[in-house]
Amino acid sequence: MVVTRNAEKTKAFGKKLAVSFNNKNIIALSGDLGAGKTTLIQGICEGLGVKDYVTSPSFTLINEYHGKYPVFHIDLYRLEMIEQIEELGIEEYFEKDGIIIIEWAERMKKLLPQNAKRIKIEIIDENTRNIICN
Ligand SMILES: Nc1ncnc2c1ncn2[C@@H]1O[C@H](COP(=O)(O)OP(=O)(O)O)[C@@H](O)[C@H]1O
Ligand SMILES: [Mg+2]
Repeated sequence: MVVTRNAEKTKAFGKKLAVSFNNKNIIALSGDLGAGKTTLIQGICEGLGVKDYVTSPSFTLINEYHGKYPVFHIDLYRLEMIEQIEELGIEEYFEKDGIIIIEWAERMKKLLPQNAKRIKIEIIDENTRNIICN
């Protein structure tokens, strides 16, 4: 577990994490609204050399970036029901080469592949977060 005391530290942790990623990684992020999932992804993407501005996919649900590897950024925030998630066809992405990062991954718990890296961010107070990696 890592404790961060501001958003920049969370980003820096993401950047460090990215060093160990390869072309076949699935990252399942969970944590409440404002926990820092997108912030962590910004750091991961920076570590992967993504030049685009990384923000949560709002209408598309999936954003694709290109860095050292292709990055697929999926946000399930607006999907309440597992049926909607199934309709997205996320499983197809699991077959692709690239890094798949899912925000609100707890919403597709049953659909997550065994090899997904699970990261949970807990809000401790306004600026403090616990980042738990399994
Ligand atoms: N230690 C911290 N780590 C990450 N974000 C933090 C931290 N402290 C404060 N924040 C703030 O919390 C918010 C996190 O937002 P965001 O990354 O969009 O969360 P999420 O994607 O989980 O909803 C940002 O406004 C950020 O500045
Ligand atoms: Mg977000």
